[in-house]
Amino acid sequence: MVQYSNELKEEIRAANDIVDVISQYVTLKRSGRNYFGICPFHREKSPSFSVSPDRQYFHCFGCHKGGDVFTFISEIEKLSFKETIEFLAERGHVTLPIEQDEGFNEKQYLKDRMYKVNLETTLFFHERLYQPLAKIAQNYVKERKLDNNTLKAFKIGYSGEYNELYKHLKSQGFKDNEILATGLVNKNDRGEFIDRFRKRLMFPIMSVNGKVVAFGGRRLDNNEKSAKYINSNENLVYSKKQHLFALNLAKQTNSKQIILVEGYMDAISLYQRGIQNVVASLGTALTEEQGRLLRKYSEQVLMSYDSDGAGQEAIMRGLEILGTQGCDARVIQMEGAKDPDEYVIKYGSERFNLLAKNAISLVEFKVKMLKSNYNLENATDKVRFLKEITEILSQVENKIEQEIYIDKISKQYVISKEAIYAEVNKQAYKNQSSKDNNILNRPVHKEVKVKEEISEAIIKRENMILYLLINHYEESVVDITSNILKEDFKLEVNQKIFEAITNSKEKSKERILQVLSNIEDSDLQSQISEIMLSDYEITSVQKCIEDIIIIYTKERLNNRKLAIIKELENSNLPNEEVSRLEVELNNIIIELAKM
Ligand code: CTP
Ligand code: MN
Repeated sequence: MVQYSNELKEEIRAANDIVDVISQYVTLKRSGRNYFGICPFHREKSPSFSVSPDRQYFHCFGCHKGGDVFTFISEIEKLSFKETIEFLAERGHVTLPIEQDEGFNEKQYLKDRMYKVNLETTLFFHERLYQPLAKIAQNYVKERKLDNNTLKAFKIGYSGEYNELYKHLKSQGFKDNEILATGLVNKNDRGEFIDRFRKRLMFPIMSVNGKVVAFGGRRLDNNEKSAKYINSNENLVYSKKQHLFALNLAKQTNSKQIILVEGYMDAISLYQRGIQNVVASLGTALTEEQGRLLRKYSEQVLMSYDSDGAGQEAIMRGLEILGTQGCDARVIQMEGAKDPDEYVIKYGSERFNLLAKNAISLVEFKVKMLKSNYNLENATDKVRFLKEITEILSQVENKIEQEIYIDKISKQYVISKEAIYAEVNKQAYKNQSSKDNNILNRPVHKEVKVKEEISEAIIKRENMILYLLINHYEESVVDITSNILKEDFKLEVNQKIFEAITNSKEKSKERILQVLSNIEDSDLQSQISEIMLSDYEITSVQKCIEDIIIIYTKERLNNRKLAIIKELENSNLPNEEVSRLEVELNNIIIELAKM
């Protein structure tokens, strides 16, 4: 594997400001010197995730994840170290040296060829749709009311019979392994090559950048014996959970809002009727990766899923995924049609836009779901319903938002506002006290669980020493290293960081930061970022160092004092040893008294 040089890494770092990068995933608000937001790595309601523009570090005080821009991208995009470098180099427009590594080159080459196979296939299917022998597909397209512009925009096509595609691709000079790698053609037991998609209406799936990565094919008849859709399997260039159908087109509208639908046909149908900020998740469950993609290209997501039970379940999960990623996610409520495609055909895009305007939030959606379980004409049901909705309402932290919901719900379900408020307050009190008592809610340091109990005070003190060493290196290094040893640190990660700093031949703050950021251990990285982003309220560096040294010196003297006392209890000691120890003990007691 090729090693990228530190200089190159620094160039890439400089080209990717951590606040810019993280802002594409998390909504950040400035407060003082740092930025804060909802942590993308764990579920939380109030922001404990902070980013420092000065230090170019992030840290979450809730889940203790942290590090630099490389750590962030590697964690959030689930990339290896090397892939992270490549990702950020591309983002920052930094040119990487040509790879010498054979294996890598081959893989890159194959990927390249697969994209070419996919593109050639798209054009082949698309052109084929217009040929006389595609009458059945042309009729189907008419029946589904797709116009020619739409067919062109989505490059919709028609797949041939038996091995037509295979033969075509071969005639274009593609090799068997390149074709097989895309999954567009399979080899059977007899060694024959057979197209995967035959006589289907074809939808190419493109990446955000418009590269064809996969295909979906719909059957043209109503014969339930074959699957309604077949799709490409995952391969070197296609990971299902990371793509959204039509995002390449939706992106071009530059809208801050995206409409999320389930199916190919829903997206295509809305698009044709002027609603072009639409993408499809292709199946019911929205993945976290897809959520992040949406967050990257929009601020608000309106979910418009099928009105069946599975669709509603999927909405709930989708809203939660989007919500934790800082997206304003809402639900479009639709009646009189089973899906958005049917709806716009029946009622037109203006009415759909009206539905979009009245989309409801997660809280309202939850309340609506609950309502379907109760008969509000019945008094006991109504009381139970009230209890359940207040549980939901009391979790809304923003009081103004809460008030708006209470107002709406009170009107909609004819329940007095006072009754809702009374319940909400009761619930909020209950939530608070159970939170305080619940041991699971107390912050726990990863390290603390393993070793003996190390108090927060000690951890804070150790972190502060390292903070001083990093940020005030010249002022502090002599005093600290001559009074504090690696073994004095109780946290193992702190020992390692201390060692890295003191072993480093580089003596400026910038170089030390670089040395630290080159450590590729995620526990160490998160500890470093915690150290860098904590607030130690230091007013005088010198005073602070003195105080810390006194604490450690005292501790060392005390330990020695106890050891001597223990030794003196041993009656077999020779006399001169006893008197030597007694002198030492006396000196220690005087030293301690002076402090
Ligand atoms: N899907 C699939 N395989 C199936 C059924 C559905 O992959 N056998 C995926 C497709 O991506 C489809 C989506 O789930 O687009 C939503 O399913 P559905 O609502 O049934 O499809 P529509 O897109 O509405 O298709 P149509 O209107 O043609 O029935
Ligand atoms: Mn449909």
